[in-house]
Amino acid sequence: MELKDLLLNLRMIMFGGKGGVGKTTCSASSAIWAAEHGRKTLIISTDPAHSLGDSLGVELAPGVPTKIEGIPNLTALEINPREKIADFQKFTQFNPLKEIGLPDFMQDNSLMGDMGDLQDLANMSPPGIDEALAFAKVLEFIETEHDYDLVIFDTAPTGHTLRFLSLPETLSGWIGKLLRWRVKVGNIFGVFKNIFSKEEKKKDNTLEFLEKMNRIILNAREDLMDPTINNFVIVMIPEEMAIAETGRLINELLKYRIPSSCIVVNQVYENTEDLCDFCRSRRAMQQKNLKKIREIFHEKLGRKIIEVPLFKEEIRTPEQLREFSKYLLS
Ligand SMILES: Nc1ncnc2c1ncn2[C@@H]1O[C@H](COP(=O)(O)OP(=O)(O)O)[C@@H](O)[C@H]1O
Ligand SMILES: [Mg+2]
Repeated sequence: MELKDLLLNLRMIMFGGKGGVGKTTCSASSAIWAAEHGRKTLIISTDPAHSLGDSLGVELAPGVPTKIEGIPNLTALEINPREKIADFQKFTQFNPLKEIGLPDFMQDNSLMGDMGDLQDLANMSPPGIDEALAFAKVLEFIETEHDYDLVIFDTAPTGHTLRFLSLPETLSGWIGKLLRWRVKVGNIFGVFKNIFSKEEKKKDNTLEFLEKMNRIILNAREDLMDPTINNFVIVMIPEEMAIAETGRLINELLKYRIPSSCIVVNQVYENTEDLCDFCRSRRAMQQKNLKKIREIFHEKLGRKIIEVPLFKEEIRTPEQLREFSKYLLS
């Protein structure tokens, strides 16, 4: 499907790819186009560098949805995931055995077997954990009531962070085990019941929290996988290294069954008469890689490859973003 059709029909579009390739530019340009075609559009960025505000040429206060002046139907929101980091760490370091109130000698380590993913998330270094957190925040947002027709997510998670989507399996197993443990504890260690009952309130909160988290991710995941709701647009540049990386990203998207029908190849040197030697040689390199990109990602998988030229200047006003969209949505 063409990017235009996605922008006119879906409820959610995510732009993902390596840093600096043009995700914010593509998202902002698409958002302006969709808004100007009558869709009530929200563009969300989780980049702490505030690049979305810079790209649209406006000041965005973190966490505050801001209507963009001069572009009816367009609202932008910058989320700072770092604010929530303490909550998240508490959650990932949570030990169900301690929470349930079992004395140490009764704790069964096999219960922790399913927690690998969570522990991995907890141990992530800052870019990883920021990405996961940002993703969680966006999932939470898109699953709450809002009256936007289209939510555009600048900088979708890539690679291993998508594993966040398998949390429901991890959590479900975990919740089930917690419940079974409670029954066991109730039946076999009835004598200790009074000791445990002190923990009752805490236990309930924990289960409630896990179940809420589970529901959010499950619902969001269903939406993310639905091609009539969501599409993940890959943004890349025509370089050899980007090809390998995009291959890995595509595999992750396939694994999590996230629909992805367009690849934007950005910053392509155009063929003009006055290309200098340096630019001509870069263009030759890019054309070689573009051919590969079309062969590997397009012909086999039926994706639309969108080429966007390298502009002479940075793209950082609505006017330039509109110009950009002519190529992006051609
Ligand atoms: N096709 C292009 N031509 C010229 N400059 C571009 C192009 N695409 C992006 N840029 C510029 O490159 C920089 C990085 O783009 P950005 O969209 O912020 O990347 P990302 O969000 O992927 O990190 C920005 O200054 C942007 O204006
Ligand atoms: Mg960006």
